[in-house]
Amino acid sequence: MSSAPENNGRRRFLTLATAVVGGVGTVGVAVPFIKSWNPSEKAKAAGAPVEHDVTKMVPGQLVRVKWRGKPVYVVRRTEEVLAELEKGHLEQLKDPDSKEDQQPEYAVNSHRSPNPEFLVALGVCTHLGCAPTYRAGDFEEIVEGVSNGFFCPCHGSKFDMAGRVFNNVPAPKNLQVPPHMFQADGTLLIGLDEGDA
Ligand code: FES
Repeated sequence: MSSAPENNGRRRFLTLATAVVGGVGTVGVAVPFIKSWNPSEKAKAAGAPVEHDVTKMVPGQLVRVKWRGKPVYVVRRTEEVLAELEKGHLEQLKDPDSKEDQQPEYAVNSHRSPNPEFLVALGVCTHLGCAPTYRAGDFEEIVEGVSNGFFCPCHGSKFDMAGRVFNNVPAPKNLQVPPHMFQADGTLLIGLDEGDA
């Protein structure tokens, strides 16, 4: 049939086209794409990931990063805080094992983070949305035996350094942990994780 050469030509064209698209796709998802991620202000407001360089943070420091119009608390935990989380105060918490859907799967652990050194959580109380205050070193006035945590001044909710809510307060759930990931150079990306990258 006279169409055979035509079919062969078409097949060759499709093979080539697929290879080119495949090549572009590979480049598109490669690491440099993530490294050069630089969304516009408009894109950030709409929910695009935001970056924060955590390498400059000192232990104990809290930085507020705006994502989707909300404050995200990024805290570099101290050795003392890590030891406190390790020791646990689990019987005092409403949801110590993060059973509620308030974090990605990789943050279901005792520090609610893929990187124990950093807490990344929305600074929005799960009661009525006030901003909890970071109480570094003087939280014991609020919860006996626990030196660091967050206190919501609106109606008295209390959270530990993994953002877990204490018993007998109005907030019903742990602070929400947004999707996030750390790049090799220490940049934190909020709003994006390994599954999207
Ligand atoms: S808004 Fe935080 S306790 Fe009510």
